[in-house]
Amino acid sequence: MEALVCRKLGGDPTIPPDSSQNTPLTVSKSHPIPKLISPTSIRVRIKSTSLNYATYLQVLGKYQEKLAPPFVLGSDYSGVVESVGSNVTKFKIGDPVCSTAGDGSFAQFIVAEENELIGVPEGCDLVAAAAIPLAYGTSHQALVHRSNLKSGQVLLVLGASGGVGLAAVQIGKICGAIVIAVARGSKKVKFLKSVGADHVVDLSNGGIIESVKSFLRTKKLKGVDVLYDPVGGKLTKESMKLLNWGAQILIIGFASDEVPLIPANIALVKNWTIHGFYWRNYEAIKPGVIEESVKELLSWLARGLITIHIYHSYKLQEVNLAFSDIKDRNVIGKVVITFDDPKSITSSRL
Ligand SMILES: NC(=O)c1ccc[n+]([C@@H]2O[C@H](COP(=O)([O-])OP(=O)(O)OC[C@H]3O[C@@H](n4cnc5c(N)ncnc54)[C@H](OP(=O)(O)O)[C@@H]3O)[C@@H](O)[C@H]2O)c1
Repeated sequence: MEALVCRKLGGDPTIPPDSSQNTPLTVSKSHPIPKLISPTSIRVRIKSTSLNYATYLQVLGKYQEKLAPPFVLGSDYSGVVESVGSNVTKFKIGDPVCSTAGDGSFAQFIVAEENELIGVPEGCDLVAAAAIPLAYGTSHQALVHRSNLKSGQVLLVLGASGGVGLAAVQIGKICGAIVIAVARGSKKVKFLKSVGADHVVDLSNGGIIESVKSFLRTKKLKGVDVLYDPVGGKLTKESMKLLNWGAQILIIGFASDEVPLIPANIALVKNWTIHGFYWRNYEAIKPGVIEESVKELLSWLARGLITIHIYHSYKLQEVNLAFSDIKDRNVIGKVVITFDDPKSITSSRL
């Protein structure tokens, strides 16, 4: 099968795979198809797999969890059940499913335990389903289960046009919050308004404080109740000047490459709650919660309550372009890698 192998950590994933011996990524055309590993395991023929910022950090060698190369890159994916173990009860061959993986999904096939897979309901686009588990799952868990976001509260979303940010904007609107989105450039601003953001700060015009304060004034609102922060650095520092008494801060990530400092004395006097949120170990420690969350998101997708904006869909050989989109901060929504349908796959020996 075709698979994208990371052969070393620390290289630049925006260099085309195999363009020299030194490139971190190589496309293997004859990678072994993974075998079922237990009576309850399932092999999935992958339709689509999504890139997250974490995948980019992983190749750079900057991600907190480091796999030993060589390994097949992996993240969220969707596809169709192709083979089932003898004790599988939840799924049958042909069922559409999605899940997430720490490795292995940038390939035509992946093997997972049946309890790791979630059925994709009718009415959901299978390519879009590959973008749901990690990005939408993170924002859903953080906003709904951790901060308990309520109707009428003011939500400030940093990095709002990216994978988790756009998910947070959409989920915030479903919760009935007043959503302020922060992004860079007029294209992103226009897009975020089109998905319902109540106010969008364009970073290309400067900082966020004046723009947000003036919006709050016109709406007779005091400040921000929940800060959703996948960016960190100076944007976190500015955002703290906008938070209400009793506000909640959701620490999601550090796309700016700068871990922010939140002064404990200010948190004390303002009665702030600071939530650290890490989806991957949530998944390991509270698997049922994640499953419920992804199921709810898929039902929202099926009912048209959320839409997945696929910024670009690439073939595996073009993965460097997908990484460039992330590195250059061009992405609005998600970039995905898609695989051809079975009839056009000639390399499968199954
Ligand atoms: N805690 C968790 O479980 C969890 C789960 C998923 C993701 N994350 C983390 O959340 C962050 C965002 O992930 P993502 O997948 O949404 O990434 P993404 O799609 O690439 O979005 C990142 C956004 O951050 C903004 N940004 C601001 N400063 C940036 C900088 N210096 N470099 C790059 N982007 C910058 C960009 O928007 P503008 O250009 O418009 O400013 C971009 O849209 C990452 O740090 C990731 O590791 C955490």
